[in-house]
Amino acid sequence: MSYEHFEIPGRLSIEDDADGWPVLHVSSAWSAAEIHLHGAHVTRFRKSGDAPLLFLSERAEFAPGKPIRGGVPIIFPWFGNRDGQPAHGTARTTAWELEETAECEDGSVLAAFRLPADGGCDVTFRVTVGRTLRMDLRIANATDAPLAFENCLHTYFETGDIHRTEVRGLRGAGFIDSLTGQRHTDTADAIRFAAETDRIYQNTTAACEIHDPAFGRVITVRKSGSRSTVVWNPWTDKSKRMADFGDDEYLRMVCVESGNVKDDAITLAPGGSELLTVEIDSAPVVEKPGMEAK
Ligand code: BG6
Repeated sequence: MSYEHFEIPGRLSIEDDADGWPVLHVSSAWSAAEIHLHGAHVTRFRKSGDAPLLFLSERAEFAPGKPIRGGVPIIFPWFGNRDGQPAHGTARTTAWELEETAECEDGSVLAAFRLPADGGCDVTFRVTVGRTLRMDLRIANATDAPLAFENCLHTYFETGDIHRTEVRGLRGAGFIDSLTGQRHTDTADAIRFAAETDRIYQNTTAACEIHDPAFGRVITVRKSGSRSTVVWNPWTDKSKRMADFGDDEYLRMVCVESGNVKDDAITLAPGGSELLTVEIDSAPVVEKPGMEAK
């Protein structure tokens, strides 16, 4: 299939990657991104002069039926495992249709995708590459019965050193520890990482910050239409069990995922729709003299 008419000179080109997969190369005055049609999966996003914001595994596989390890897998219509069904739903392993590309008035570049119709849900995903990376996942119920689902933008972030990385913004929120199944309330000022971490925060609409002193930056994750935040790092043993993930790659990534899962799952009335928006950005941190950690 030819995608030539979607290309925007100097801003957006579409070519097959080394594995023969169509990929959009998008650039704005401030940033660059890559988006695979497989899963409508944003695999890379980088602001000029900054390290990549998104982590993509060196062992990521680009193969039919397989999700891509890193970037932003779209989790829909369910989160986690389901008997006899693919983990995290089918959206991330489906070839989406490219619907529209455009250069916006403010200089950002838009690419819009649609999930091939399936059982009456109308699902679109719009990616805006500019000063930030903005992603809008809209799910509409085109049937005459209620539609129940979970959704999540499973964002993998690149971090300089997981031992010094902190995720802030979730203090006071309740979470399910997926490793034990137990529920807790987070009382810490920040999440720090020293072991496998797999938490589903519920009923939180808060923005999060990822503090990364190794790269000297703070990543912000702002969201709307989302009541759940998942924080995940596989640490050592699970890293070794994942074929598409390097044994030491846990040292330079953390997932802070925004969506609606478990207690926050959504049921849409006929004709209803829900919009999940996630916007990520980064800013350098300039340490003031005398502020170094002791
Ligand atoms: C996270 C889950 O969202 O995704 C973890 O909380 C899971 O439990 C991780 O291991 C990766 O899942 P997958 O299916 O991409 O290997």
